[in-house]
Amino acid sequence: MLEQTVQIVSNERDTDSYFRLVLRASRIAPLIQPGQFAHVRVLPLKDALLRRPFSIFQVSGDTFSILYKTVGKGTVVLAQMQAGGELSVIAPLGHGFTVPKRGGETPLLVAGGYGMAAMFLLAQRSPQKGIVFVGGRRRVDILCEKEFQALGWEVRVTTEDGSHGNKGLVTQPLLAELKRHAKGRKLFACGPTGMLKAVGKIADDFKVPAELSMDEHMCCGVGVCLTCVIPIKTGPALRDWEYQRTCTEGPVFDAREIVWEETK
Ligand SMILES: Cc1cc2nc3c(=O)[nH]c(=O)nc-3n(C[C@H](O)[C@H](O)[C@H](O)COP(=O)(O)OP(=O)(O)OC[C@H]3O[C@@H](n4cnc5c(N)ncnc54)[C@H](O)[C@@H]3O)c2cc1C
Ligand code: FES
Repeated sequence: MLEQTVQIVSNERDTDSYFRLVLRASRIAPLIQPGQFAHVRVLPLKDALLRRPFSIFQVSGDTFSILYKTVGKGTVVLAQMQAGGELSVIAPLGHGFTVPKRGGETPLLVAGGYGMAAMFLLAQRSPQKGIVFVGGRRRVDILCEKEFQALGWEVRVTTEDGSHGNKGLVTQPLLAELKRHAKGRKLFACGPTGMLKAVGKIADDFKVPAELSMDEHMCCGVGVCLTCVIPIKTGPALRDWEYQRTCTEGPVFDAREIVWEETK
């Protein structure tokens, strides 16, 4: 993990309120593993003290990129920054996904909205190809469909308003797929907490392993402030659980270890 002031190579709109930010970070880029994140201080922001966490989307040579949605003051200011501008970044952070092995379980990736960003590197580095289930409210929330297809993955799209792909929730085609064939499959998911909870339940019902990237509010991002803790099982009894830090022990956890009844 390194703290570095990095230069913006490009910062361009993808669709609607989503942007792609490419950063030159020669020391950080080679260290990045799928599912890890960068903690970004938006230097022009007045109260720039609090960093914002973003999944690392792509890595290329001495650059890495993030794919972000403008939702509040930090991301709105970030979207106004241009090539040549500087950001302070701590990265790579957190415990990421286990990259599938050739001939191992077939990966089924499940992503909601900007959750796609956490999935691309996993798909790119996995020698075993599988299916990506992508969900969003509207067509504009479906990101990188063609890029996943170019990697040789099958992509199944659902939107809640039916404007692209099938109408409904991303868990519906996942459920249908597992009903057809569950053995030898493994789930990897990133998205809103409700979606992750549903994927965790599906994994449990079908007895398939699953790794979930949890989206919790973070302050320090490096394991000190305990803002980001979630309850994780430590043994077989109901009382056997402890709080673990999403920024350090996570953001990716084994679905069987998450105690949903105790989550915020
Ligand atoms: C591990 C991880 C990976 C993420 N990856 C991405 C990504 O790839 N693309 C993307 O668009 N967004 C991602 N997010 C969410 C992103 O961090 C928030 O959307 C962003 O911090 C909002 O900042 P803001 O100042 O615009 O919004 P505001 O709501 O004004 O933020 C105020 C404060 O709340 C915190 N905050 C707000 N929403 C979140 C959130 N969902 N998660 C954590 N902290 C939050 C901010 O860090 C800031 O300190 C990720 C979150 C986590 C935890
Ligand atoms: S964000 Fe501070 S401990 Fe995780």
